[in-house]
Amino acid sequence: MTNKYKYFVANWKMYGNKKSVNSLKKVIKFSKMSKFKTAKIVYCPPYTILGDFIKKFKNTNIKVGAQDCHFIDGEGPYTGFVSSKMIKQIGSQYVIIGHSEQRKSGDTDIKINKKILSSINNNLNVIFCIGENLKQKKKNLTKKILSYQIKKGLNKVKNFNKIFVAYEPVWSIGSGKIQSEKELFKNIESIRLILKNIKNRHQFKILYGGSVNDKNINLLSKIKNIDGFLIGGASQKPNKFIDIIKKSYI
Ligand code: PGA
Repeated sequence: MTNKYKYFVANWKMYGNKKSVNSLKKVIKFSKMSKFKTAKIVYCPPYTILGDFIKKFKNTNIKVGAQDCHFIDGEGPYTGFVSSKMIKQIGSQYVIIGHSEQRKSGDTDIKINKKILSSINNNLNVIFCIGENLKQKKKNLTKKILSYQIKKGLNKVKNFNKIFVAYEPVWSIGSGKIQSEKELFKNIESIRLILKNIKNRHQFKILYGGSVNDKNINLLSKIKNIDGFLIGGASQKPNKFIDIIKKSYI
C-alpha cells in the first residue's frame, strides 16, 4: 500500500432494492471498529437507491458513489441520463467512470474523458476504470492498452487528488479468474509509471478490481503497490464484504 488509507469500493451494478439497505447495518457497525479506521468504504449502488444509501450512511464514515454519469456538465435534454452535478447534489462523493460494462455499451475514451472532467468540476472523486480484454492480453498488448486508456481518459485533467485509477482486467470481472501476484504487481507498476509521466510526484491511488473475494483477498492484499479494491459480486453480501476488509489487514 502506498497511501495512508485502504479503499474498499462496493460496486453493486444492477442489483439491489430498498430492502438491501437493511443489510448495511452490519457494515456500519464494523466500520466503527478502531482497528479498521484506515479502511475507507465506499458504496456504489444503482441510482434508484442512491438516496437511501446516503441517508443510511449519514453520520458514519462510509461514503456513497454512483456507477456512471452523463458527459454533459449540468442539465439538458438527455432522456434516461444523470449528470455528475445531479450526483453531487444528492450527496454522493464518488462516481465510477469507464467501467468495462459501460465501455461495452458505448463509452468511448473521449466520452470517458468528458465524464471525468465534468465529475471533477463537480467535486466528485472519480474511480476511473481501465483494463485490457482477453484478446488484448493474449496479444501482449496490456501495457499499450493501459497507457492509451489512461492518457485519453486523463486528458486536460488538472486536479489529480480526486482521481482513483481502478485496474480491472476485463477478463477477470465476474469470471473468478485473477492474474498471478507477480503479473498483477507488474501491471500496477506499469500503471504507476504511466501516471508518473502525466503527473510526476503525485501519489496516485490505484485500486484493483476483478473477482476479488473472501478467498483470494489473502493473496491480493500482499501486493504492496495496490491501495484498495473495487469489488462487485462479493460486495453485496455484508459478511463477505466485511471478511474481505478484515483479511486485508492481516
Ligand atoms: P466482480 O466485479 O468483483 O464481480 O468481478 C468487479 C467490477 O466489475 O467492478
